[in-house]
Amino acid sequence: MSKPYRIAVLISGDGSTLQSIIDARTQYDPPIEIACVISDRNDAYGLQRAKRADIPTCVITKKQHPTFGNFERALQEAIDPLQVDLIVLAGFMCILSADFVAHYEHQIINIHPSLLPRYPGLHTHQRALEAGDTYHGTSVHIVTADLDEGPLLAQAQLRIAADDTVESLTQRVKQLEHALYPQVIRDIAQNRLKLIQK
Ligand code: GRF
Repeated sequence: MSKPYRIAVLISGDGSTLQSIIDARTQYDPPIEIACVISDRNDAYGLQRAKRADIPTCVITKKQHPTFGNFERALQEAIDPLQVDLIVLAGFMCILSADFVAHYEHQIINIHPSLLPRYPGLHTHQRALEAGDTYHGTSVHIVTADLDEGPLLAQAQLRIAADDTVESLTQRVKQLEHALYPQVIRDIAQNRLKLIQK
């Protein structure tokens, strides 16, 4: 087995995406090592998932660091000593500044619940339903200073059913995400996908 590929996972909520990475991490070569799960919320359920899997956790809230610069500096101070290969945003509900993104150039990825470039931002399932779209899905992209606009790495899609609701689409898209995100991380770790921006 090769040396593990080290990642930090940033979350804000339930952490079902994190769970999919936890479940897959030892199946790959190199294995994925989650060096730390960092949350901007004390009550994120994903923290429990990390603890159950013996993964170190760290909470950095905006309340502790009311100015945005201080919040991001605290994030950097937590991340830099970990010496990770990749920073994985998994339901992390904070917008990162251009300076922060530049500090980790080509090292941050995000998963977004829509077929980008359609529906950057929030309420993606509702917007896809309201538009009467035939297809919906999820996108993994490199994080840049422009929200949800970085270069795409992978997508997975489903056909919207006549009886789909926001809730059913949320769950169905999450199923796609749980299969796709660990595979994208594996492909980056194996150098089959490269985080280069034109
Ligand atoms: C996912 O749908 C992801 O695409 C979006 O936030 C959701 C995270 O869900 N960025 P969870 O907290 O991992 O369950």
